[in-house]
Amino acid sequence: MSKTIMIVDDEKNTREGLKWVLESTGAEIVLAQDGEQALVRLGTQPVDVILSDLKMPRVDGMELLDHVREEFPETDFVILTGHGTVETAVEAMKKGAFDYLIKPVNIEELQLLIERIFEQKALKQENERLRREVDDRYGFDSIIGRSAPMEGVFEKVRQVAPTRASVLIQGETGTGKEVIAKAIHFNSPRRRKPFIAVNCGALSQTLLESELFGHEKGAFTGAVKQKPGRFELAHGGTIFLDEIGETTPELQVRLLRVLQEQEFERVGGTKPVKVDVRVIAATNRDLKKEVDAGRFREDLYYRLNVIRLDLPPLRERPDDIPLLVHHFLKHFCKDHGRDLEVSPKAMSLLQNHMWPGNVRQLRTVMESAVILSTGKEILPKNLPDEIRNDAQPANSIRLRVGMTVADAERELIRATLTELQGNKAKAARLLGLGRKTLYRKLEEYEIEA
Ligand SMILES: Nc1ncnc2c1ncn2[C@@H]1O[C@H](COP(=O)(O)OP(=O)(O)OP(=O)(O)O)[C@@H](O)[C@H]1O
Ligand SMILES: [Mg+2]
Repeated sequence: MSKTIMIVDDEKNTREGLKWVLESTGAEIVLAQDGEQALVRLGTQPVDVILSDLKMPRVDGMELLDHVREEFPETDFVILTGHGTVETAVEAMKKGAFDYLIKPVNIEELQLLIERIFEQKALKQENERLRREVDDRYGFDSIIGRSAPMEGVFEKVRQVAPTRASVLIQGETGTGKEVIAKAIHFNSPRRRKPFIAVNCGALSQTLLESELFGHEKGAFTGAVKQKPGRFELAHGGTIFLDEIGETTPELQVRLLRVLQEQEFERVGGTKPVKVDVRVIAATNRDLKKEVDAGRFREDLYYRLNVIRLDLPPLRERPDDIPLLVHHFLKHFCKDHGRDLEVSPKAMSLLQNHMWPGNVRQLRTVMESAVILSTGKEILPKNLPDEIRNDAQPANSIRLRVGMTVADAERELIRATLTELQGNKAKAARLLGLGRKTLYRKLEEYEIEA
């Protein structure tokens, strides 16, 4: 990082002396003899730190400070002051000066101060970089999917992100529920506040309760001091209640109250705690069915279900598979220092797999394939058995939830006949049907051999 320091003082000796000291820091030094000249220079050259005298002709130190705070908020300002004007220097600090030094300036003190300023600047830059990285990671660009069902999901995410409405995300394991929850948070006005994820299925309900709501000192054995819960930690931000379907009715009552009143008591406490938290919940069950079966409170269901996002399983959006494959390929090639393509055969196997573990499973498969492949291409032999052993793509049929048994049968008969070039005798044998039965079914399903 190149550094520039500006010294503003009407005394030539001070300027030259400070310049001589500060050159040892490796910074570029710019000199100005009063505030006016300083402002002119600032107009043409960015400066990281200004060291400025207070009393100067024309534009004095205080006035310069005002201008700098207004127009160059990134520039740090240090006041140089005589003994008599310390009070003014303190005034300047209130206006946003970084610090002040008393003249004659102690060289060591000055060097330390400059070091501290640049350290803080570096920290700030690092924070900003991390922040941008987080924004990228959870921005829409990193969520892969161009299939119609995913476009629908994105559209809804865009609409709900800016609001504070509760969202219920439903989807099978590995479909990206947490990814979507984060995308909502990081595209909302709450993005700079915490995103707190709690897995409601991972803890016993008693532990979960104190985890969510915190506890007072002495609330139970082992509660040696007061502990804030995740709801308090998420204040101003978003709480992600994962596997919400696993909660007990007692806990559901407490959750309902937080959602309704944005208020709760810590375990063992009586004083209500107010919070401003947006709730996103996720489940891989069909929560409405849980309600109908009496396992999930209806009132809580409706509170959570203000906006509902259903994440489609990967097998229902095969168009996304090649995109995800390339996305993970790029990611893991970078991680493992490889440069690989996916062979057409391997791609076709990947695209025809049913993916019971959805995107997470695909991700794992891609990582192992990148590690296992030795040549320039990922080959079928680099894929796990269960994927290689799938039916041959050309003559396979695709079963999906929502299809009737008759649909499946029709598909199977059609595919078998196609594969056997219309040979009905062979087809009947392969299908384990009597020839007459096959004829009847061909008629019933209106299949032309
Ligand atoms: N659309 C997507 N684009 C890129 N990566 C995705 C996508 N969907 C999921 N992933 C990745 O797949 C993995 C699983 O996603 P996530 O943890 O969000 O799933 P989940 O639905 O919460 O699963 P579970 O129900 O098992 O908790 C993560 O590594 C995530 O980064
Ligand atoms: Mg999850």
